[in-house]
Amino acid sequence: MAKAAAVHFTCAECGYSTGRWLGRCPSCGSFGTLAEEAPLAANGQAEARPLLRLAEVEVEDAERIATGVPELDRVLGGGLVPASLVLVGGEPGVGKSTLLLMALAAISRDRRALLVTGEESTAQVKLRAARLGGAEQVEILAETNLEAVCATLERERPDVCVIDSVQTLYSADVGSAPGSVGQVREAAARLLRVGKQSGVALFLVGHVTKDGSVAGPRVLEHLVDCVLQFEGDRYHAHRVLRAAKNRFGSTNELGVFEMTGTGLQGVPDPSAIFGRSAGEVGAAVACALEGTRPLLLEIQALVSPTDLAMPRRVGTGVDPKRLAMIVAVLSRHAGIALGSADVFVNVAGGVRIDEPGADLAVALAIASAARGAPVRAGTAAFGEIGLTGRLRPATQAERRAQECAKLGLAAVLVPAGTKARAKVSLVEADTLRRAISAGLEEAPSKAA
Ligand code: TYD
Ligand code: MG
Repeated sequence: MAKAAAVHFTCAECGYSTGRWLGRCPSCGSFGTLAEEAPLAANGQAEARPLLRLAEVEVEDAERIATGVPELDRVLGGGLVPASLVLVGGEPGVGKSTLLLMALAAISRDRRALLVTGEESTAQVKLRAARLGGAEQVEILAETNLEAVCATLERERPDVCVIDSVQTLYSADVGSAPGSVGQVREAAARLLRVGKQSGVALFLVGHVTKDGSVAGPRVLEHLVDCVLQFEGDRYHAHRVLRAAKNRFGSTNELGVFEMTGTGLQGVPDPSAIFGRSAGEVGAAVACALEGTRPLLLEIQALVSPTDLAMPRRVGTGVDPKRLAMIVAVLSRHAGIALGSADVFVNVAGGVRIDEPGADLAVALAIASAARGAPVRAGTAAFGEIGLTGRLRPATQAERRAQECAKLGLAAVLVPAGTKARAKVSLVEADTLRRAISAGLEEAPSKAA
């Protein structure tokens, strides 16, 4: 008897696949995320194919499509490659639909641009388009049936098509529910085929979860040509677009936007965002790593005298133990007395940092608040603080320094011995005490 194609279960978080159902995924440890998937089709017999040498492969130097959003073109590596497949991930509300509708509006001026919406009605899209302006020529299809979407793409062959979102597409051939790993993977695989055959460049919108993974669509990352991540907090105006993967360009490029009443505005000089705090007492810019990617964050501190026997150390976005340690090292080794002061630290933008590379900037913000002296203008900091008051090099120094350079900062305060090639001046210090004297402006004299 031929062995029946086995049913298998796939984890919606990490894509781990197993032959039996489990309550907890052994790979990522999530609970209740394993779902049954339809068995994979058995491999049929196929004929051998002729081979080519690379020298014989013909390449058409395809002209890139300008999206009309310069920050998006930059992250894509100089525009959209025709017939490519781009996954755009981001949390709900970050502005994915807005960004892509703006791109479609600009593209529709001289090419065919189609929006397939599964999340919003055509009327909702029209209202949004009215706010953004210029989207009259964009074609629209409200459809969640995968077969219908593919058939339409084959017939209409638009130059660019946005699928908003890939999680809403549904194919009756796949047993599982819309949004499941099986559905999302099937949708992407079929769209990839149709897109390449019909010459349609596709943007797939994918929602990500709070912890930053593209839920479900994570399994698509190897399939698509580019993975763009759109990040930012819906309560704050700034958004950052990055390429996590790009087959046609570098992944170091970064696009910065500001959400306004009329859509997303590119921020050509992003240091302006961080420069706002320049000269403010109690603020420092950290270059922290989020996963493997560097991110510039503003750290704010307030030091206020108290009569409490146990002064308060309150951190928002920083680990309380780490904060207590930094306060102790500042008092003991850097001559910043904090024994009778409450210390409050906040990471601006509602971000959490949980890596020691941000220590130095946290210490600098507290020292600045305690001394009443601002951090030098255009200066960021990264580095780990040891219990003896020495600074230890942080991991991935070069990427961090390059991020500072990219965002237009002039100098970075780093632990002595940090090696990094970047267009930014590295100010080295071996101890926290020296870092503070190098990083802070002179305090205004009390007598004046
Ligand atoms: P949206 O693009 O719908 O986010 P996503 O597709 O990632 O879920 O919109 C994000 C937010 O932006 C939404 O809450 C409303 C706001 N917004 C503006 O502030 N200005 C605008 O011009 C538009 C269109 C949206
Ligand atoms: Mg949306």
